[in-house]
Amino acid sequence: MAGHVAVVGATGAVGQEFLRVLEQRRFPYDKITFLASARSAGKSIPFQGEPHKVAELTEDSFKDVDIALFSAGGSISKKYGPIAAQAGSVVVDNSSAFRMDPKTPLVVPEVNPEDCKQHQGIIANPNCSTIIMVVPIWPLHQVNPIERLVVSTYQAASGAGYQAMVELEDQTRDVLAGKPATPKVLPYQMAFNLFSHNSKIGPNGYNEEEIKMVNETRKMFHTADIQITATCVRVPILRAHSESINITFSKPITEDQVREILSQAPGVKIVDDREKNYFPMPLESSDGDDILVGRIRQDISQPDGRGIDMFISGDQLRKGAALNAVQIAELL
Ligand code: A2P
Repeated sequence: MAGHVAVVGATGAVGQEFLRVLEQRRFPYDKITFLASARSAGKSIPFQGEPHKVAELTEDSFKDVDIALFSAGGSISKKYGPIAAQAGSVVVDNSSAFRMDPKTPLVVPEVNPEDCKQHQGIIANPNCSTIIMVVPIWPLHQVNPIERLVVSTYQAASGAGYQAMVELEDQTRDVLAGKPATPKVLPYQMAFNLFSHNSKIGPNGYNEEEIKMVNETRKMFHTADIQITATCVRVPILRAHSESINITFSKPITEDQVREILSQAPGVKIVDDREKNYFPMPLESSDGDDILVGRIRQDISQPDGRGIDMFISGDQLRKGAALNAVQIAELL
């Protein structure tokens, strides 16, 4: 029994998904507390068929909390994560605040569950695009170490929070009604458009999302030897991210070997029907737990047989965030 569970950011897009995942997986607890900003305090949210009041997050919120699931943004995690850990809670944090901190394990349960054991009160949930990528590539890496990854993402609005999802719906309605689309949360028109990921661009021209995919993958795989380059893009999709991945292995590998390994990989579902031109789609990965993997093919630009291309899709709010965090809590 997990005792007292607190959900920080319970009114947000990931927070709401936490609730659904906890219900669906019948996560065992004695008591559950929903925390958000003062704006939401007193609001009622349904959980397990009962209305639950949202409380304001304060420094005193964690006194008897055993597990605190955080998804209220990096600054909230930075401030309240250590307060919760100090109070004796184990924090599973969905923000980027502690991911690269050497004392904080960064965990995807299908990849490095044993790293949880090293925690000092906080365990970090990786970036959503990274989680979705590592679930299918880790089992391949174990059989044939990966030397290089080239990934391009097609990222949904949900990664920017609930208001970004509302914005995509509003903009779509407005454009169809002949009205101008008004960007509020995201910097540019999302409806009928796409744009480079809205995170900050660094001096080398990579944005923060791309650098997260590089650094977090290396941290979880416990190797600095994988060369990774990423291009992250927002597309007008509500809640599932897709990715095109090109892999160079250290030894030759065939697409049949890849299919065989992935057919037994936890958290992966192969969707790869060439005859019907039927492959992973965000509409079909949405609301599901599995990462859909398809377009598995030998990369013809690597004649030595070490290259594989694939296209994947996974629910950003579930495996990319809430589900992964709840799976970590289950490991605890
Ligand atoms: P609230 O709804 O009260 O603003 P999203 O990523 O979907 O935008 O969700 C962000 C989550 O983080 C929401 O639950 C939001 O609560 C919560 N949040 C934002 N600012 C704070 C804050 N200062 N204190 C506590 N929770 C916050």
